[in-house]
Amino acid sequence: MNRSVITLANLSKEKIQYLIRLSEEFERHTNRRLLEGKVVATLFFEPSTRTRLSFETAANRLGARIIGFTDPKVTSSTKGETLHDTIKMVSNYADVIVMRHFLEGAAQYASEITDVPIINAGDGSNQHPSQTMLDLYSIYKTQGHLDNLHIYLVGDLKYGRTVHSLLMAMRHFNPTFHFIAPKELEMPEEYKIYCEEQNIKYFETRDFNEDVIADADILYMTRVQRERFTDLMEYERVKDSYLLCNQMLRKAKSNMKILHPLPRLNEINIDVDSNPHAYYFEQAHNGLFARQALICDVLNIGLDQILNDNTIID
Ligand code: CP
Repeated sequence: MNRSVITLANLSKEKIQYLIRLSEEFERHTNRRLLEGKVVATLFFEPSTRTRLSFETAANRLGARIIGFTDPKVTSSTKGETLHDTIKMVSNYADVIVMRHFLEGAAQYASEITDVPIINAGDGSNQHPSQTMLDLYSIYKTQGHLDNLHIYLVGDLKYGRTVHSLLMAMRHFNPTFHFIAPKELEMPEEYKIYCEEQNIKYFETRDFNEDVIADADILYMTRVQRERFTDLMEYERVKDSYLLCNQMLRKAKSNMKILHPLPRLNEINIDVDSNPHAYYFEQAHNGLFARQALICDVLNIGLDQILNDNTIID
């Protein structure tokens, strides 16, 4: 069975809770030799800071070795080699392939041409399941549970793969979503239909002020992604639609946490960073543990083995 992670939408509630449990275990003991002898390939056809570095740190801290590239320009794809052949080749060398690609569906395609598990590190504006895993872990850590939360998604809901992934993975937990976006970047119809099919409550507004967000448990800010626009005039029009600043948090619930997949541009004022509601840097740190959980899961290393692990270093 191919254990690739292309989306979290098909995971059961129990599987998501299990991956959170694994993440907790890796946060407790991060440095181990569980993956000694394994090779993890990181193929990044699009730029990344957090996703690549946290996957590589996750693998390194578990004793695996890393191969890969951060820029497709240094690979034979510039000579015309297809994604198909690249995946076939890397499958000869690695036990897991972590891949980010600019095309929607690229990770699914890769998973269909190899038995080596593929972990989707973001495919175009489609899905970003490892980000969602760390988002779920962050929500769980800060709220104590995942159930019945009011989650406000703000900014680029059209191209934002992180919000698409999160929305689908939350279907088991009775969330209420609040979509805040300019008209040009509103949540695509297919995700609204998904909400309706899954009985997920959602509201939409263009307003963003302290009254609108007063009921939030999670305020999930996103960057307007210049790289997804074909019309740069449109990008210029919408890029600064929403800016969260400290004074907008006066009415926030005490449990409310601000998440952002990062990088941020002009969505969160720097004065928010020291506010107790800010959680985005801790969120990125949680990516290390969530990605350790995903790598071990695709390699069929289970909780029992992790709990009985005698390779712990720290
Ligand atoms: N959140 C995220 O995907 O960040 P990077 O693009 O830096 O990997």
